[in-house]
Amino acid sequence: MFNSGFACMCVVFVSCSCSNALPTKPNQEAVNYRPIIGILTQMVVDDAMKPFGTTYIPASYVKYMESSGSRVVPVRLTHTTAEYEKIFHSINGLLLIGGAVDLEKSDFARVAGIFYRLALTANDAGDFFPIWGTCMGMQLLTVLVAGENLLSNTTAENIAMPLNLTAEAQSSRMFEGFPMEVMKALTHEALTGNFHKYGVTVKAFHENEKLEHFFTILSTNVAENGAHFVSTMEGKRYPFYGVQWHPEVNRFQWDSKHHFPHSPNAVLVSSLLADFFVNEGRRSSHCFAEPGEEASSLIYNYTPVFAGNFTGYEQIYFF
Ligand SMILES: *[C@@H]1O[C@H](CO)[C@@H](O)[C@H](O)[C@H]1NC(C)=O
Ligand SMILES: *[C@@H]1O[C@H](CO)[C@@H](O)[C@H](O)[C@H]1NC(C)=O
Ligand SMILES: *[C@@H]1O[C@H](CO)[C@@H](O)[C@H](O)[C@H]1NC(C)=O
Repeated sequence: MFNSGFACMCVVFVSCSCSNALPTKPNQEAVNYRPIIGILTQMVVDDAMKPFGTTYIPASYVKYMESSGSRVVPVRLTHTTAEYEKIFHSINGLLLIGGAVDLEKSDFARVAGIFYRLALTANDAGDFFPIWGTCMGMQLLTVLVAGENLLSNTTAENIAMPLNLTAEAQSSRMFEGFPMEVMKALTHEALTGNFHKYGVTVKAFHENEKLEHFFTILSTNVAENGAHFVSTMEGKRYPFYGVQWHPEVNRFQWDSKHHFPHSPNAVLVSSLLADFFVNEGRRSSHCFAEPGEEASSLIYNYTPVFAGNFTGYEQIYFF
């Protein structure tokens, strides 16, 4: 029995990308052992990156997802709405990465909005589809939910901090698999790298009914200007997650001018969160209609460029 909202026509003995989306026991949720996470490409704004392409994905985000047993599909910003619907029904989750573009008018925001609305409808219909936003990706999630831009100056630029976990963090889905010692380390050690100028203050969050109903705050931090900002959140009803900080840098970025946390606990936090999100992806039974289409969509068709000498990233995929 396939728990699929999409017609994955699988014939016995014929290879099929959804053949593992089977309940492991009667009455258990389907488990997809071949998850594919879509990463929305980010728009190039940095002059030094312009010769290579118009959109990009830092390889750190790709490795972050791959390291937990997922494959990655880059999602371009040039498709039609019908094509995005097809992609949506082919992938098992979406990662919205950091960057610096307009959160309402950019193509990045427009395409993220298409996936966000498709994911709301799908989840409402029992078709599980998770979304994760990191840094600007999280900011974008707040704009999509609130229907307005609530960001203000919450500058925490190039600083690693512990998290001020809320009481709700203890019973959250995101931190459920975290051992007690790691939860303790999260609140005492500087395990979360911050590289942002804007964010949503705790006050703005609580004053906005839509955000307040949609997300639970799991952690807060204090910005350079003293503003308390939301640093981690998860959807109450939907499998949507946001971190204002950058879990991927702990394992996959090394520029010594940046305060990337690399301690054993920092590496563990990064692994546990990637494991968590890919496990969420395993609960989605979407798949590509046929193997050739899947193969030509995967990030393996692209080669990252060494970028350590002109950006703060080691490697970048350009499109
Ligand atoms: C945690 O919250 C306390 C009390 O509001 C604050 O003084 C402290 O700076 C916060 N820690 C971080 C790392 O933001
Ligand atoms: C934000 O606040 C920081 C720290 O107080 C300040 O240095 C910076 O100029 C402010 N940025 C903006 C865009 O207002
Ligand atoms: C960066 O390094 C690559 C390969 O080592 C080289 O081809 C390229 O010109 C360098 N770019 C800059 C901006 O220095």
